[in-house]
Amino acid sequence: MFSSDSIILKNKKIGFIGAGNMTQHILEPLLKDNILKSDQIFVSNRSASKLQKLKDKLNIISCNSNEELLEKSDIIILSVKPQDLYEALEPVLAYFEPRHEVISLAAGASLKSLSKLLPKVSLLSRVMLSTAVKIKQSAIAYDFMKNGQFAQSEDDGAFNVKALFSPLGKLFFLKGDQAFRAFTVGSGSGVALVYELMIYWQGWLKDYGITEKMAEQITQQSFLAASKMAINEEQSIEDLQQAVTSTKGITIEALDAMRASNLEGQLHHAFEQARLKDVKLANLKTIDNTK
Ligand SMILES: NC(=O)c1ccc[n+]([C@@H]2O[C@H](COP(=O)([O-])OP(=O)(O)OC[C@H]3O[C@@H](n4cnc5c(N)ncnc54)[C@H](OP(=O)(O)O)[C@@H]3O)[C@@H](O)[C@H]2O)c1
Repeated sequence: MFSSDSIILKNKKIGFIGAGNMTQHILEPLLKDNILKSDQIFVSNRSASKLQKLKDKLNIISCNSNEELLEKSDIIILSVKPQDLYEALEPVLAYFEPRHEVISLAAGASLKSLSKLLPKVSLLSRVMLSTAVKIKQSAIAYDFMKNGQFAQSEDDGAFNVKALFSPLGKLFFLKGDQAFRAFTVGSGSGVALVYELMIYWQGWLKDYGITEKMAEQITQQSFLAASKMAINEEQSIEDLQQAVTSTKGITIEALDAMRASNLEGQLHHAFEQARLKDVKLANLKTIDNTK
């Protein structure tokens, strides 16, 4: 049985520049669920050893150079670190053709700067995701340009982006660098930030004699339940919270203390630090400096 995603991608040759963590996290579920087949996937990488490991694991077709990958692929996924992006692209700029669709995963690299670097490419997308793609639960933001123009609506195209990434989580069509930066912190880093809260949670439980394993599982279950109920019930998070908080009960004591300590302001400050670092990195490096 073929899904509509696998049908749309069936005759496409998909090339990944970079055989690192994200490439592996994306490919594993797509291959396992037969959305892609290993003989349509081409991968190049800076170091031969990492590429060989990925080939041994997923049976993809390895390319000896980025030129070879560009010759063989229709859809090119840029999966190198943002600071390596310009160095990876610069020697092969002449090999990009209008037949190529390019999808960049590089955090911080704006569509505008990518389109200046790759003027011949007619369909150019930017995708931001998290490691939760490996369990098909990532929030995934995308935006795209067609023939040098920003898409006005998600219906303008990028059908291959939707086919490739919607099986890996929930897709959001997001406009503008500001929104992408906020998304990078709230979702790309988001999982790690939630882990920080989970570490405090289980630590507090352990202080009262609950075993490490149980403290871990209680914490996991609480975060899972909160997320699942927020997704499944047709109420806002505020309403769900109110429904489990009686005015003379226990929960309100903790909530009042959290609010009095300005936890919201502290988290806001922490998120802003990450966002500002993203701005700083984009200013320091790569393709945004090639304008
Ligand atoms: N991992 C995440 O959680 C995450 C989350 C959101 C977005 N992203 C984005 O996903 C992209 C990939 O990140 P990652 O975590 O997968 O990084 P990674 O594990 O470091 O993988 C990047 C790969 O690119 C290869 N590479 C570097 N220069 C190259 C070149 N000139 N030609 C071919 N290959 C080259 C590296 O090769 P060697 O190291 O073997 O030399 C490495 O294997 C980044 O742009 C990142 O912003 C990642």
